[in-house]
Amino acid sequence: MSALRVLVVDREPVVITTARAMLNQLEYKVLAADTGFKGLELIRTHRPDIVIADVQMPTMNGLEFLQEARAIDPDVVAILITAHQTSAKVREAMKQGAFDILEKPLRMGPVLRAAERAAIRRRQLVQRRRVETLARQVNKELKLSGLFACLRKELAHSLGVRLFSVFLYDTPTDALTLACSNHVPKAQGKENISIGLEGPMRTAIKTRAPVIVSRFANSRWRQTAKQRERRYHDDTSATLPLIVGDELIGVLNLNDKVEPPEGFEEIDVSYLLIAAEHIASAIAVRQQTGRLSAALEELRAAQNQLAAESRARAKFIERVITNQEEERRRISRELHDEAGQWLTSLIAGLGSLESSTQEYETRDKAIRLRRLSQFTLDEIRRVSRGLRPTALDSMGLEGALQQLSDEFVGTHPAHVDIEMSGLTGRRLPEAIEITLYRAVQEALTNVAKHASAAVISIVIDRQQDRVRAIIEDDGVGFEVKRANGGLGIVGIRERVESLHGSLQIESHPGEGAALVIDIPVSA
Ligand SMILES: Nc1ncnc2c1ncn2[C@@H]1O[C@H](COP(=O)(O)OP(=O)(O)O)[C@@H](O)[C@H]1O
Ligand SMILES: [Mg+2]
Repeated sequence: MSALRVLVVDREPVVITTARAMLNQLEYKVLAADTGFKGLELIRTHRPDIVIADVQMPTMNGLEFLQEARAIDPDVVAILITAHQTSAKVREAMKQGAFDILEKPLRMGPVLRAAERAAIRRRQLVQRRRVETLARQVNKELKLSGLFACLRKELAHSLGVRLFSVFLYDTPTDALTLACSNHVPKAQGKENISIGLEGPMRTAIKTRAPVIVSRFANSRWRQTAKQRERRYHDDTSATLPLIVGDELIGVLNLNDKVEPPEGFEEIDVSYLLIAAEHIASAIAVRQQTGRLSAALEELRAAQNQLAAESRARAKFIERVITNQEEERRRISRELHDEAGQWLTSLIAGLGSLESSTQEYETRDKAIRLRRLSQFTLDEIRRVSRGLRPTALDSMGLEGALQQLSDEFVGTHPAHVDIEMSGLTGRRLPEAIEITLYRAVQEALTNVAKHASAAVISIVIDRQQDRVRAIIEDDGVGFEVKRANGGLGIVGIRERVESLHGSLQIESHPGEGAALVIDIPVSA
């Protein structure tokens, strides 16, 4: 923006001539029109800053003209001229948005005073609108990078300077980083500027107040004035702290004021401060959002990794369990089929030797060897059954559990109450049957090892979509949280959970123990 433009609208040429002569003193550029219509046309084409218009004009009077003018440029500052200034007229004119009233004939003093005040008003209005526009544009950007790109494009123009730089301040290290500038080439966001002990930026950081320099050569920083000349055209600068709440987040540096008058004045500073406030909070909000979304991203990645790991673990456990069962089945079969067959033949051979020989000693040896072999065979069968519950294959879960319970009662001084429902006539999936069998097996082993129980109750209840097992004893009980170290319960849990089921242990010292297993059964 160069010299201020003033439009004078009056049908009397003498008024225009007088006004022009007076306003030229202020070095304003004067446009003139002798009717309201011509005046409006000039507003459209030349965008004057101030209009001075006569109230008494034919066809379109001053007040009508004012309304039309403000419709074209809401920030135009209007001064009306009247022949007789009455308070009613003044009130009416002000109501219509006039900024001031002058009386005919025009006198130099009032005209210049009114024009100067109008000029300041115009500057304020233009500045306000620019900051509003800037804030609107800045708010459209969601990311910090977008915000800086927007500032690079708009900020210098909005603040009426040629050059600007935004630095971000890091309190712990007392370091400034160049974040965005319209004149420092490359290295944006990388260049770390160590703040000297002196200089406007240091002062702005220390005082948290704007530092305005109108002539560097005369300022306390004149030693840097020479060096500045290479970079900057003129000698003006404004350094504004960027503050959000109580926190100093950076510094905004402005150089080379473009618009007259030379140097920043008080009204400029107050609007620069408003702009700095907008910029500071826009940066802070985007920094926060950025940090938040980075944290969220990290969290999501960790969650995904955790889920993947737990899936992999579940798969692994499932494979281990399957392999284990297969391996047991193989060993059990070997023992049963191979060793069992050999022993059976051996027993038969010993039997015939026993009946064919007459010699007492040989016969006696054969009998002992046959009994030993029979005992070994029984033992092998027992081990083989334990390894692979063939009872499951032949008798189903119900029969196999009954057998387990019978065996337990046969070898331990305890009573077992077993109650099963929903199992007759329909088989559960093999994996569930083995899991329940192993769980009851381990639970009974635990009772034998740890509980000193008199009564054990086993309840298996098969529903349509789930099966539930409760193995309860009236023994010494235990502190569930402390009972770690063993692999038995852990093993049950892993088997049950690999089938998407759950295991609960209810026990307290002196109050017996109960395992509650719940496994879903897909239809
Ligand atoms: N029915 C029970 N009565 C009392 N204590 C038990 C019972 N079942 C388990 N515990 C306790 O829980 C611990 C863990 O059991 P477990 O995981 O099977 O390992 P282990 O039997 O090899 O010790 C046992 O050492 C024991 O202290
Ligand atoms: Mg155990």
